[in-house]
Amino acid sequence: MSIPTSRTEEAAIITIDPLKCNGCGKCVAVCSDFEFKIVNGKAIPSEESLFGCMACAHCMAICPEGAIEVSGRCLQPEDMFPLPGPRTQTNYDALLSLLQSRRSIREFRGKAVSQETIDLLLAAAQTAPMGIPPSDVHLLVLNEKEKVRQFTSDFCQLLEKNRWFVSGWFMTLMTPFYDKRTLQFFKKFIRPLFDVYIGSMKKGVDHVTYDAPVALYFYGSPYCDPADPIIAATYAMVAAESLGLGSCMLGAIHPFLQFGSGAKEFRDKYKIRFKSREGLVLVIGYPKMKYLKGVKRSFASIDYV
Ligand SMILES: Cc1cc2nc3c(=O)[nH]c(=O)nc-3n(C[C@H](O)[C@H](O)[C@H](O)COP(=O)(O)O)c2cc1C
Repeated sequence: MSIPTSRTEEAAIITIDPLKCNGCGKCVAVCSDFEFKIVNGKAIPSEESLFGCMACAHCMAICPEGAIEVSGRCLQPEDMFPLPGPRTQTNYDALLSLLQSRRSIREFRGKAVSQETIDLLLAAAQTAPMGIPPSDVHLLVLNEKEKVRQFTSDFCQLLEKNRWFVSGWFMTLMTPFYDKRTLQFFKKFIRPLFDVYIGSMKKGVDHVTYDAPVALYFYGSPYCDPADPIIAATYAMVAAESLGLGSCMLGAIHPFLQFGSGAKEFRDKYKIRFKSREGLVLVIGYPKMKYLKGVKRSFASIDYV
């Protein structure tokens, strides 16, 4: 038994080959679950495991002798691969250039994104770290413009069913319960958002997913660290940029798939397996326009204490 996720709750099994182990102790140093100890110049199980092996596979990846194998929790020894050489690794300048060039793209060319390109993007996104392995991020892929359109149209119908949520009478009713910030958020942001999403869709204009040829919905299981789907979506966004694609994160969809009239039916239709504390839609496609300048961004605060 180890920390449960939606995929497994078993601990992974660690096998140490005593003939190969040279007792260097690197496995002891990298295992945050205290799975190893060195006795008589060999690594052996420590019996001080905190949670049971979670299959992070640090031990297997660091062992210079190939003496450690980890199996279970969706991992096999065969999942290990040689690291890319230093020449293919990016450097800070190249990474910064990629990040600085990125803009949220809301205008897409009609060009479809090939399955091969989607696969490359997903391979990169799946390298994302997760709170507890194995990743509990789930992904819905809408890989054609028509599918994205249908999803968005269904989403706008869902909003319409729940429009009372941002109505004047409901706001008035909730005024004693909402703090000032929440009330402002609803009045200044959520209500106009409902209006523009529903209103523009009725006119055949997609202001939700921007007629993108691909939409990816990252969400987590109830076990998942809420940050996991957001981190995965961020990796996908950076990967999209590196593939010459434009993308835009859409935070406005996820909350309305969690509750309210018709939300479960919507989730069922799109095989969305769970309600999720956090989730994010990423729309992707080839940008119609080219930005000429970068714009400096900054955090709200950076304190050194
Ligand atoms: C968590 C998150 C949620 C977002 N949600 C939306 C959204 O629902 N609709 C939208 O058009 N843009 C959305 N954006 C894009 C932001 O508006 C955009 O990142 C911001 O304006 C800065 O522009 P830039 O990404 O080009 O630097 C979202 C961005 C993030 C990070």
